[in-house]
Amino acid sequence: MSAVIPVVKDVEFDHPVEGSACETRHAWARVPPEPAPAERAALKARIRDLLKARNAVMVSHYYVHPDLQDLAEETGGLVSDSLEMARFGRDHPAQTLVVSGVRFMGETSKILSPHKRVLMPDLDATCSLDLGCPADEFSAFCDAHPDRTVVVYANTSAAVKARADWLVTSSCAIEIVRALHEKGHKILWAPDRHLGSYIQRETGADMVFWNGSCIVHDEFKAFELEALKREHPAAKVLVHPESPADVVALADAVGSTSGILKAAREMDATEFIVATDNGMMHKLRTLNPGKMFYEAPTAGNSATCKSCAHCPWMAMNGLADVARVLETGANEIFVDPALGERARLPIDRMLAFTAAIKDGRPAGALVPNIGAA
Ligand code: 13P
Ligand code: SF4
Repeated sequence: MSAVIPVVKDVEFDHPVEGSACETRHAWARVPPEPAPAERAALKARIRDLLKARNAVMVSHYYVHPDLQDLAEETGGLVSDSLEMARFGRDHPAQTLVVSGVRFMGETSKILSPHKRVLMPDLDATCSLDLGCPADEFSAFCDAHPDRTVVVYANTSAAVKARADWLVTSSCAIEIVRALHEKGHKILWAPDRHLGSYIQRETGADMVFWNGSCIVHDEFKAFELEALKREHPAAKVLVHPESPADVVALADAVGSTSGILKAAREMDATEFIVATDNGMMHKLRTLNPGKMFYEAPTAGNSATCKSCAHCPWMAMNGLADVARVLETGANEIFVDPALGERARLPIDRMLAFTAAIKDGRPAGALVPNIGAA
């Protein structure tokens, strides 16, 4: 086993305060050392055996280490976006889910499958959107807007979800908010300000916003992106909607992580500039071997980037911890059952809505008119 100590990084994030301001707060992330080749092969073999022995399945996000993406797929698990991770974990017969991603992903899995054991490689892997939206402060914001339907992004704690009417991920947010808007709902949106304003521009909904942001996507820069576009005039620009509006405005396609993958596969181009976490490059490149992918710039020449296009919390997931939690049952996610039951409501609504879209059924029928129960 490697005796190398993980590097602990200081991470700055935005915490909304009175009015529309934000203050900078600090969190930390612990990045595990990269195993040497022999150790890496041994860990992979051990994880394969343990998955079978423990009736467990791996569910990984596109931003985690390529080893955890590949191993999930090779062992019958899943690598995908946060929506499909939630659905897969709920529907898979395995009684243990090993969720590689950030904490809200493990919590969502547990809420949807309270009888299953949900393990995560590192329980301290968080998200700036979750950190920047504490349940008590969010609850006061909701109390101040009692006439609004509360729509929250998946990147939140169980307690924030428990205060919501609807949950969305970036792959279904527009459809759900549009359906609510068409039924007369005014929206309270949290926590990502950029995703919220993108949804508002797309749907015309009446929305008030929590002022949170993703430390990775908030750093993409439009001015530098324009310069990169000039260097690669044939390249199409793919942008995750957690990015600032001026970056989104330069996009040829805007989408969730799976939306970005779909666009790269289907668009008639061989070069792409990608504004999302660079963990995506693994899947983009392996699924599109003839195409070129460039990372969108995160900062100007003289500036320093906070995240440098890779989420420090997603980077906390490593092979050694996957093996360890499978071996010992450590790092289990627990959600208070009563809280989980309440938080499940908006998640179930989202999953029913997106299942209806998938099956070609009228999803809008699942949204009540304003005033209806
Ligand atoms: P997706 O839902 O697009 O996978 O995004 C999750 C996330 O954390 C993006 O930063
Ligand atoms: Fe949160 Fe951003 Fe990391 Fe996604 S990439 S988990 S939104 S901090």
